[in-house]
Amino acid sequence: MLAKIRSAAVLGLDSQPIEVEVDIRRSGQAGIMTIVGLPNAAVRESGERVRAAIRNSGFAFPGNKRVTVNLAPADLRKEGPSYDLPIALGVLAASGQLPPAALDGAVVIGELSLDGSLRHVRGTLPIADMARQREIETLYVPAVDAREAALIPGPEVYPVASLAELIGHLQGFQHIEPLLSHAELPAQPPPPVVDFAEIKGQEHAKRALEVAAAGGHNLLMMGPPGAGKTLMARALPGIMSSLSLEEALEVTRIYSISNKLPADMPLIQLRPFRAPHHTISHAGLVGGGHWPRPGEISLAHRGVLFLDELPEFAHRVLEVMRQPLEDKVVTISRAQGSLTFPASFTLIAAMNPCPCGYYGDSQRECTCSMGNIQRYRKRISGPLLDRIDLHIEVPRVPYDKITNDARGESSESIRARVEGARSRQQERLSEVGMACNADMGPGELRKYCPLKPDSQALIRAAMSQMQLSARGYHRILKVSRTIADLEGAPDIQTQHLAEALQYRTRVLTL
Ligand SMILES: Nc1ncnc2c1ncn2[C@@H]1O[C@H](COP(=O)(O)OP(=O)(O)OP(=O)(O)O)[C@@H](O)[C@H]1O
Ligand SMILES: [Mg+2]
Repeated sequence: MLAKIRSAAVLGLDSQPIEVEVDIRRSGQAGIMTIVGLPNAAVRESGERVRAAIRNSGFAFPGNKRVTVNLAPADLRKEGPSYDLPIALGVLAASGQLPPAALDGAVVIGELSLDGSLRHVRGTLPIADMARQREIETLYVPAVDAREAALIPGPEVYPVASLAELIGHLQGFQHIEPLLSHAELPAQPPPPVVDFAEIKGQEHAKRALEVAAAGGHNLLMMGPPGAGKTLMARALPGIMSSLSLEEALEVTRIYSISNKLPADMPLIQLRPFRAPHHTISHAGLVGGGHWPRPGEISLAHRGVLFLDELPEFAHRVLEVMRQPLEDKVVTISRAQGSLTFPASFTLIAAMNPCPCGYYGDSQRECTCSMGNIQRYRKRISGPLLDRIDLHIEVPRVPYDKITNDARGESSESIRARVEGARSRQQERLSEVGMACNADMGPGELRKYCPLKPDSQALIRAAMSQMQLSARGYHRILKVSRTIADLEGAPDIQTQHLAEALQYRTRVLTL
């Protein structure tokens, strides 16, 4: 007998329907099971899990028969254990233990344990979204993944704890309650890990972080050890505007297919903060692998990618970030074509001024030779630096400021200004499909950032004095626009431009 069960594959960020066909025939040999249709090792091992799960759930695995499983379409590579459940149901249907029509109109996914209970599978969110697009009515997913699937309105999501429970439900002995679909963000975001009020001094750096958060600008901080660079970077998510539901679903999808969704959090509600170690590989940072997975730059999508100790990262690893920094997406090519993952993140980089850390420090003497300092700084290439809008020095905080009990402005109050600036940008830029000032190209700059004559005189003088490139000029305009937005000013004024020029000090020149 032949049975057909619908399931789904995850490909990049998307899902595609898969049909699981199970054919059972008489054969001299005892219980052979073959899986065809480009399965990988994990799928091939399915046979053993399915056999044990069926027996341990109180059903019979057909003996003295040949079981052939075909995963169609055959030209699509299948990976992972999520076909266990549809294969088991197919075997039960093809051996007459389940009515053939029981699973009409349903998509089934799930990994089986040997005892028949269901385990988590990755990518439930894109699978549910595929089911919605194809107007599939019913989804059977592992109970642990049901809340994730139910983020998508449309299909009825049944949380399945075990194979026996699902069979009971399909035969009408037992009832599984479908989950009500909903996706909602909490009204109040949780308090930030590090509040700006706790950071002493560093007014210049804190202001630069506010500008970065408001306009989506990248930022490089340079300063001696212990100045608070890492601390301030960690405080940044607390002043960023909150995620919209649409953005939250985008981010959740990336975490879902990467198998990185926290078990107790079906929807990612906060902007991601990723801080990979400098020993990270090229594939780990931008994505890749045999079954391409998103890298850190995609896991930081709509949030912050923090590269601490920037010169310690391998040169090649940093260089591959240039394209995604510009395009906000990363394309990974592989034998069967290329995959694209989103990568729209704010880059925050931190570094010491020299290998020993104290070049230019007011208290401690630097022990590095000029040659060593130059080599150290050359590890950051010009083109990469050029993609960072804000460059600032973070000096040591004087003793009396560190011990001062006065609290600075809270993250919450800074965030209110950032939200205001963001909504002004959205009003202006939505007609060109952009979200923030950092995204603007030359055309938008001409349209949205006209300068008055006195500002033109200032930037002309600065350009020749600071030897700015055309790209440098554009970056200053964008940052000026953000500073004006933070103030709620309709036009860029001279003081906005003057502040923007301060974030362009050439921190890396000796
Ligand atoms: N401005 C500050 N206000 C309050 N605490 C601070 C400040 N700067 C530093 N600290 C304290 O010093 C610790 C070390 O700071 P942090 O790790 O941010 O330094 P860093 O600049 O990243 O140094 P390194 O270059 O060595 O990485 C912080 O965890 C915090 O306790
Ligand atoms: Mg640090």
